[in-house]
Amino acid sequence: MVEHELTNLNTARLIVRRFEDRDAEAFWRLRNDPDVARHQGWPFPYSDSEAASFVEVMARAPVVVNGEWFQFVIEHASDAVLIGDIGVRADSLTGEEVEIGYSLDPAYQGHGLMAEALTALIAYLFRVQRKKRLVAMTHAINEKSCRLLERLHFTLEGTLGNIDPNDPEAERVYALESQNFVPERRP
Ligand SMILES: CC(C)(COP(=O)(O)OP(=O)(O)OC[C@H]1O[C@@H](n2cnc3c(N)ncnc32)[C@H](O)[C@@H]1OP(=O)(O)O)[C@@H](O)C(=O)NCCC(=O)NCCS
Repeated sequence: MVEHELTNLNTARLIVRRFEDRDAEAFWRLRNDPDVARHQGWPFPYSDSEAASFVEVMARAPVVVNGEWFQFVIEHASDAVLIGDIGVRADSLTGEEVEIGYSLDPAYQGHGLMAEALTALIAYLFRVQRKKRLVAMTHAINEKSCRLLERLHFTLEGTLGNIDPNDPEAERVYALESQNFVPERRP
């Protein structure tokens, strides 16, 4: 299923939604935070023009197209500002498996907000988009990210060694099958 329109996903504290032009500055700040960028693959520093064109493309991109990354904004509802994002990419062959990646502003970490955002997005991917399986790759030393995935019932499938000379950290592969999703979880 491909949806070009995306209805906002509202949770107790958050809105998970499509990018809008007003997000460019907060998105640029997020990508230039060294603690956020450490475990990610984007160019650092990340220029304001890169941020602006990324936002422009994502504001109009179709949602969840096989083989293409789509980025969702996490907006803090009461602060009305972008505090993080979640990228998704369905596999190009069947589209049934979706890789996810995520980032949260350190000022908002430690409150269960990413778990809250991901729970809403996972429900959307399994129930609306009818995806079968989610995959997340994360550095083994990224303890917060590993804990997050394990709290959301992802299973550790294996650890990859030094496959990328530019990224020597061991990488863990986690997966969640649709039947193992716990929808009623309250972070
Ligand atoms: C990975 C990342 C999103 C985790 O953020 P986080 O805030 O720790 O994750 P959560 O939203 O699940 O919050 C969990 C923490 O909030 C605490 N918490 C407080 N209130 C909570 C609540 N109501 N519900 C759940 N957890 C709560 C938990 O105890 C936990 O803290 P702990 O890890 O010290 O035990 C964040 O560290 C990040 O963006 N890192 C940089 C980017 C990155 O590495 N991305 C992964 C690469 S794919």
